[in-house]
Amino acid sequence: MAAGGDAVARADDGRVVFVAGALPGERVRAAITEEHRSFARAVTVEVRTPSPDRRPPPCPHVADGCGGCGWQHVAPADQRRFRATMVADALARFGGIADPGVRQGPDLPTERYRTTVKAIVVDGRAGFRRRRSHDALAVDDCLVAHPLLAELIVDGRFGDAAAVVLRAGARTGERLVIAHPGAVGLRLPDDVRVVGSDELARGRRAWFHEEVAGRRWRISARSFFQVRPDGAEALVAAVAEAVEAHVPDAATLVDLCTGVGLFAGGAGAGRRVVAVGATAPP
Ligand SMILES: C[S@@+](CC[C@H](N)C(=O)[O-])C[C@H]1O[C@@H](n2cnc3c(N)ncnc32)[C@H](O)[C@@H]1O
Repeated sequence: MAAGGDAVARADDGRVVFVAGALPGERVRAAITEEHRSFARAVTVEVRTPSPDRRPPPCPHVADGCGGCGWQHVAPADQRRFRATMVADALARFGGIADPGVRQGPDLPTERYRTTVKAIVVDGRAGFRRRRSHDALAVDDCLVAHPLLAELIVDGRFGDAAAVVLRAGARTGERLVIAHPGAVGLRLPDDVRVVGSDELARGRRAWFHEEVAGRRWRISARSFFQVRPDGAEALVAAVAEAVEAHVPDAATLVDLCTGVGLFAGGAGAGRRVVAVGATAPP
C-alpha cells in the first residue's frame, strides 16, 4: 500500500500504477485515470481475485461513490497493519532508518469516532465529494462521524455556505461549525457555535474544548487537532513511553510542530518543554 491508501502495481512498461480500491495480492481490473511519465493512477473496476483482507464496505454511501473514506473495503485490523507498513516504509525510504520498529496502535472503534469532518454543502445540506471528482454527493449519514457531528450532517441546514468544517469535543460535548465563505442562514441546534471563515479572517476568535490525557484543551477554530481523543491519548502515551525509555533524564524536551501542544502538554508534564509551532494560514 502506498501513502494515501492506494495499492501499488506495475504496468507492463515498468511504470508504477497506484490503484485506488485495490489491496496487495489481489488481481483486479482497473481503469487508468491519470498518466505521467514515471507513474499512472487507476481505479478498481472489478475485483477478480479478492484479498482475504477485503470486506464489504459497511457504509452504504461508498457504493454511491462517496469519496470521504478510502479504506471502507479494508478490514480494521488490516487497516492498522497497512498504516504501520506505510509509516515504516516512509521512515526507511526518506529517513534512511533501515528497521524503524513501527508498532501498531491500540484497537479503537472504527465507526462514529471522527471529531472533525469537512463537508461541502449541497442544497443547504452537508455532503461529500465523489471519489476523485469535484462533484457533490448528498448523504443522509456518515458512519465515521462522531454522533455529535452525525446529527449535524443529518439535520443541519447550512444556508448559503459552500463548505463547512464540523468540529466537536467528544468528551465535552461542545460543537463548532466553521462556514465558508461566511455563516449566512444556517439552522443548527442552539448549542452549536457558528463562525464564518470571513469572520475568522477579520480576526474573530472561536474555539471549542476537548479533554485528552487528563487535560482540557482549548482548540481554536482553525487549529489542527487529532481526529479523535482516544487516538490522541494513544499517541501521547506512546510519546511518554518513548521519553521514559530513551531520554528519562532529559531536562528539556522539544516539541516541533506542536499545534495546540498535545505532546508538550500531554507527555512533557513535569519537564521544561520548548514547543515550536506555526500559526494557521489566513
Ligand atoms: C499535524 S499537526 C500536529 C500537531 C500536534 N503535534 C498534534 O499532534 O496535535 C502539525 C502542526 O504543525 C504546524 N506546522 C506546520 N509547519 C510548521 C513549521 N514549519 N514549523 C512549526 N510548526 C509547523 C501546523 O500549523 C500544525 O499545527
